[in-house]
Amino acid sequence: MADSPLLRVEGLSVGFARPDSSAPDLAVEEVSFTLRRGKTLCLVGESGCGKSVTALSIPRLLPSPPARLTGGAVFFEGRDLTLLAERELAPLRGSRMGMIFQDPMTSLNPVMRVGDQISEGLRLHKGLGTASAQARAVTLLEKVGIASPEERARNFPHHLSGGMRQRVMIAMALACDPSLLIADEPTTALDVTVQRQILALMRTLIRETGSGLLLITHNLGIVAQVADDLAVMYAGRIVEQGPAESVLAGPAHPYTLGLLRSLPVFPDEADDPRASRLGAIPGIVPDPRNRPPGCAFHPRCARVLELCRREVPPLFSSETGRRCRCWLHAGRPGGTLPAGKGRLTFEKNSGMGTDKV
Ligand SMILES: Nc1ncnc2c1ncn2[C@@H]1O[C@H](COP(=O)(O)OP(=O)(O)OP(=O)(O)O)[C@@H](O)[C@H]1O
Ligand SMILES: [Mg+2]
Repeated sequence: MADSPLLRVEGLSVGFARPDSSAPDLAVEEVSFTLRRGKTLCLVGESGCGKSVTALSIPRLLPSPPARLTGGAVFFEGRDLTLLAERELAPLRGSRMGMIFQDPMTSLNPVMRVGDQISEGLRLHKGLGTASAQARAVTLLEKVGIASPEERARNFPHHLSGGMRQRVMIAMALACDPSLLIADEPTTALDVTVQRQILALMRTLIRETGSGLLLITHNLGIVAQVADDLAVMYAGRIVEQGPAESVLAGPAHPYTLGLLRSLPVFPDEADDPRASRLGAIPGIVPDPRNRPPGCAFHPRCARVLELCRREVPPLFSSETGRRCRCWLHAGRPGGTLPAGKGRLTFEKNSGMGTDKV
C-alpha cells in the first residue's frame, strides 16, 4: 500500500448537462494521472482547459446536476471515490483531503476569527476540545510562517494582508494532516515574492509529511519551481505529462512548447526551448460545445498534419514516464523528443484508437 500512488485518476470524463441536449458537454475527457506520496503534480493549461473541473471532481465537489461523471475512476488511499456514498466521502473532505482555492476572501468566513476557523475543522474531524484545537491552530499559523500567531489567531480575515490570508487558508487545509492537498491557483492574487514563499512552504510540508500536492496553475514559472510531475491540459484532455524537469526541458507537444514560448526568457537561457521565439499561441481554447474534430489543438497548431484534423491522437508514451498526445510522434518509433532529452517508444497504450498507430 505504501508503494501504491497516493492518488490515481483513471480515464476521468466529466460533462455538464444542457437542457437542449441529452448528451452532456464533456469538459474533461479521459484524464489519467497519478500523484505520488511526498510529491507535487502540477496541472497546467490555459483558461477553460478543464483544470478546475478535474480538481473538483476528485472530492466530488461539483454540483450535480449539471455536472455528471460519465466515466473513469479516482483511487485515493485504496478506495475509488467515484463509488463512495456521500456519507462516506464527506468525512474525507477537509480531513484526508485538504483544499485551497484561489480567493481566500471568498473561502474564509469574514465574521469569524481565523483561529476559530482553523480549530473548527480540528474539533469536527479530529474530535479535539476547544482549548487544544485553539492551541493547535496557533501552532499551524506559526508553521505557515505567520508572525505573532497567538495574536493573529484572534484577528478577523479583514485584519490580515492577502499573503497572510493565503497562509491561513493553507493552515486550514493542513489542519487535519491531510494526505492529499488540492490547490487550485492558490497564489494567483499574490505578489511574486509571497507566491514563491508560499509555494516553497507547501512543497516543504508535502515532502516532510509524505502527503501529495495537486497544484493547478497557469504559470509555468511556478511549475519549474515546485513540480515533480507535470500534466498539461488542453480542451479537456491531458496532452502531455511526465517528470516536470524532462517535460520543461524537452516539450513533446506543440501546445506545451507554445506555453513555454509565451514565457519571458532571460538572455542567459539561450538553450532553453522557449528562447527560439517569444510569443502567444494564436487563437483561443475551444468551448466544450464547440470542439474541432480530431486533435482539438489543430486549428492553433503550427505543425498540423492532415490526420490531426480527423483523428484524436492517442497517448504515445516513453520508458521514462513521458506521455504525449500528438500525431507528430506517430510513425517515428524511437524518435527523440525535440530537445533530445528522452525517447518516446510509442507503445500502444492509451486504449483510445491506438490500433490506428
Ligand atoms: N458549472 C458549469 N456548467 C457548465 N460548464 C462548466 C461549468 N463549470 C465549468 N464548465 C466548463 O468546463 C470547461 C472547463 O472549465 P474549468 O473551470 O475546469 O477551466 P480551468 O482550466 O479551470 O480554467 P481557469 O484557468 O480559467 O480556471 C469550461 O469550458 C467551462 O465553461
Ligand atoms: Mg480553474
